[in-house]
Amino acid sequence: MKGIGIEEYGDISKLKIVEVPDHKLRPDEVRVAIRASGVNPVDWKIREGWLQRSFSYDFPLILGWDGAGKIIEVGEKVSTLRVGDDVYFRPEIEKQGTYANQIIVPACYVSLMPEGLSYAEAAALPLVSLTALQALVEFGQVIEGQKVLLLGGSGGIGTTAIQIAKALGAHVTTTTSSSNVDFVRALGADEVISYDRPTIPYHDCFDFVLDTLGGKAYMDAIAWLKPYGKLATIFGGPDDPRPISTLSDEKKLKIEYVFTRPDAANLNHIAQLVQMGKLKPIVSEMYPLSVKGVQRAHLSNQSGRTKGKIVLVNN
Ligand SMILES: NC(=O)c1ccc[n+]([C@@H]2O[C@H](COP(=O)([O-])OP(=O)(O)OC[C@H]3O[C@@H](n4cnc5c(N)ncnc54)[C@H](OP(=O)(O)O)[C@@H]3O)[C@@H](O)[C@H]2O)c1
Repeated sequence: MKGIGIEEYGDISKLKIVEVPDHKLRPDEVRVAIRASGVNPVDWKIREGWLQRSFSYDFPLILGWDGAGKIIEVGEKVSTLRVGDDVYFRPEIEKQGTYANQIIVPACYVSLMPEGLSYAEAAALPLVSLTALQALVEFGQVIEGQKVLLLGGSGGIGTTAIQIAKALGAHVTTTTSSSNVDFVRALGADEVISYDRPTIPYHDCFDFVLDTLGGKAYMDAIAWLKPYGKLATIFGGPDDPRPISTLSDEKKLKIEYVFTRPDAANLNHIAQLVQMGKLKPIVSEMYPLSVKGVQRAHLSNQSGRTKGKIVLVNN
């Protein structure tokens, strides 16, 4: 299988066309011709070698862990998917990625694409919507009327989490720069905190916080949570050390690091939200799946200013 990846960790100059060995399909796997791949911060963090504590890869490594495409082969035990189906998925991050012409994935991670979406729109959804759903619903158990704070509302995670939290009936506050206030309000945010303007204190206000930023924002969020509130942090790698806070012990907060799990059942639920008009993918930038395209996509995402999602498309 051919794709864009690396043979060693480093900056964007290390990106190249790489070829990885193919294997015969196992009974529970499907082979997908990839049409589009979402770009996430984890892609360039892995390229830079920042996540070596958590993942050890064989090189060459095809990057990207968010895809949409067409099924071209199914294993003999797969009953839920057929050749010709348009699908979207987040494959296992420990394995080869989606910046490729095709990929082999266990069928239990693959779901039919939401109707009416392009491949690019569908590829923008899996990783961020699985993360938001698993943080808000599985860990947070957020319910109607609860007050949630979503840090970084204008990014890939934030734009998705705002819409999922609103679909759950929560009252949503989010943070962003003043230039993106109207953008996050249009997605459904009830209240917006501009991090570049003076902030009123929010002590003991929120039932749930989704932390995408770590550091000072994480510490502020601890003060802003109600006693017994919940905080899901997704910042950093699974094995990175987390900040220690005595205030979180005093307030008896429940804090958990959430790392996205691939899951077709969750993706089916996300497809329903799209079909009900409660969730729409926000694609702000598209690049061709080429070495140059990936370099531009990574540089853009590394700037920290991405609105919604960046997607790579196979021509
Ligand atoms: N654990 C997991 O499973 C998991 C899964 C997905 C992502 N993540 C991590 O979660 C983080 C966010 O991911 P993402 O895809 O949302 O990233 P992203 O799309 O690259 O985020 C960019 C956005 O962050 C906003 N931002 C930057 N600094 C901010 C601040 N101080 N306060 C509020 N907003 C700020 C920017 O808004 P402005 O331009 O307005 O500043 C921009 O819109 C990354 O570190 C990523 O690695 C973890």
